[in-house]
Amino acid sequence: MRDFDFVVIGSGAAGLSFALHVAPHGSVALITKRSLSDSNTAWAQGGIACVSSDEDNFDLHIRDTLECGAGLCNEEVVRSIITEGPSVIRQLIDMGLQFDLRWRDDGEREMDLGKEGGHSKRRILHVRDETGKAIIDTLINKVRSSPSIQIFEHHMAVDLLTTGKLGYAMQDSCVGVYVLNSLSGEVEVFRSDVIVLATGGCGKVYLYSTNPDIATGDGVAMAWRAGATIANMEFIQFHPTCLYHTEKKSFLISEAIRGEGGVLLDTKFRRFMHKYHPRGELAPRDIVARAIDAEMKRLGSKFVYLDISHRPSSFLKDRFPHIYETCLKLGMDITSQPIPVVPAAHYQCGGVKTDLHGETSLRGLFAIGECACTGLHGANRLASNSLLEALVMAKRASQKAIRRIRLRQNYSLPEWRHGQAVEPDELVVISHNWDEIRRLMWDYVGIVRTDKRLQRAATRLRNLHAEIQEFYWNFRITTDILELRNLVIVASLIVDCAIARKESRGLHFTMDYPEPNPKFLRETTMRRT
Ligand code: FAD
Ligand code: SIN
Repeated sequence: MRDFDFVVIGSGAAGLSFALHVAPHGSVALITKRSLSDSNTAWAQGGIACVSSDEDNFDLHIRDTLECGAGLCNEEVVRSIITEGPSVIRQLIDMGLQFDLRWRDDGEREMDLGKEGGHSKRRILHVRDETGKAIIDTLINKVRSSPSIQIFEHHMAVDLLTTGKLGYAMQDSCVGVYVLNSLSGEVEVFRSDVIVLATGGCGKVYLYSTNPDIATGDGVAMAWRAGATIANMEFIQFHPTCLYHTEKKSFLISEAIRGEGGVLLDTKFRRFMHKYHPRGELAPRDIVARAIDAEMKRLGSKFVYLDISHRPSSFLKDRFPHIYETCLKLGMDITSQPIPVVPAAHYQCGGVKTDLHGETSLRGLFAIGECACTGLHGANRLASNSLLEALVMAKRASQKAIRRIRLRQNYSLPEWRHGQAVEPDELVVISHNWDEIRRLMWDYVGIVRTDKRLQRAATRLRNLHAEIQEFYWNFRITTDILELRNLVIVASLIVDCAIARKESRGLHFTMDYPEPNPKFLRETTMRRT
């Protein structure tokens, strides 16, 4: 058994920065299922929303966030995360991160602030169109040089150990976690009074997604199995502009392109966003994604176009080098051609419910970043608020976690038993079930929903769940089996939450109840009984 003061699961912005905050106070295990740099964070393009100019202020950022959240944000949480933004940005800069600057008319330099949908001001700090990579490189550099952080790459958390499960008659606390070493195939036990889920989102539950392969909702599934409260899983954000290309899956075309004047065109090269919202292309994301979906259905097209070719070529190459180069390699020159795009699953607004310090309903179990539901996003996330939330909540959670370890308790934890499990012999079952879940979620639980489709999805997922459980118990576990087992749980939570919300609000739009209903002005919560 390995024993640490803090166990952190996940190496995105949330996990890495939490590890750095607590490192001076005790030993830290940083567990991550692939390499340290595999995360959604590493793929982030647009940037971090944070008030940083004289033309902006906290109240405006708060107002934009609340408006986008469609009545379901927790205002106290919104205020605290937004007002703490500048301090976490300062920490990143002190670690060496250089956000893009621009020249002012008076010859001074200032932050070059981007604009995205739903924001009333320019407030997105960025590093060209690869902000996530710059953040990850900066944090990894620090983590690698910290003597108290032990890094476990290719280690996948399997299940949480709680006092309830172990039969202790006291408040249910999280005291450890089983972890699969995917290189050796052995399951190791990690013990700690502070276990932090920083496992990111669940984009891979959908057939089309902007997310990398790690995004399989593991943290939410583990927390649910352990009995923690899960909230608002119906609110899945679809990004309006994912590249439509047969060879390149999951490549985002940043909203910042629309912020710099990019326009959406149907396949007959006509603009259409003015029909849907006064802010046109810069309307909140749910509106843009639904508008594109409606236009594609209307014309029977497989994509729409995003066109920024009217801006100078030198500007585009300098501001969006990653998007420019990637498209060019695929034979598309964004400086002279429109880009074919489609909406794709992008962000999970719900997650493991936490308090203002990131602690879940299980004592000692924290959830930060995309896997958590703090109350910041409500029914729809404002663009570029998630990196801000991940960084601020990592800091806040570390403060409570440091207090927690002073009350250290000793429990002996059972070793993992493989039992009668044998090597899996029918791996086709895994890939088949995986494809089926992702397709049915896309077809039945997408941008526009109906009761009938949701019920169909629920029934099919129940059968798949039973099949996958059988597979899990009979065969030696692999990362593929574990991800599939998590995926089916997260899919079911999304469907169950969507069924429970008999109204349309924010990202949840159902044709059976097309209007918001004040009766549902509350979070949808789920807990395993
Ligand atoms: P992640 O960065 O996803 O990290 C999760 C980590 O957990 C990974 O290291 C993963 O391997 C690990 N993990 C998962 N399960 C397990 C397990 N069982 N065991 C061990 N390790 C595990 N947001 C913005 O604010 N601004 C943007 O510009 C922006 N652009 C985006 C662009 C793209 C293409 C995408 C996909 C997202 C974007 N987002 C953006 C959203 C934002 O990137 C994420 O919400 C944020 O990075 C999440 O950070 P995180 O630390 O919570 O999770
Ligand atoms: C983007 O660059 O469009 C992504 C921003 C975000 O998801 O917040």
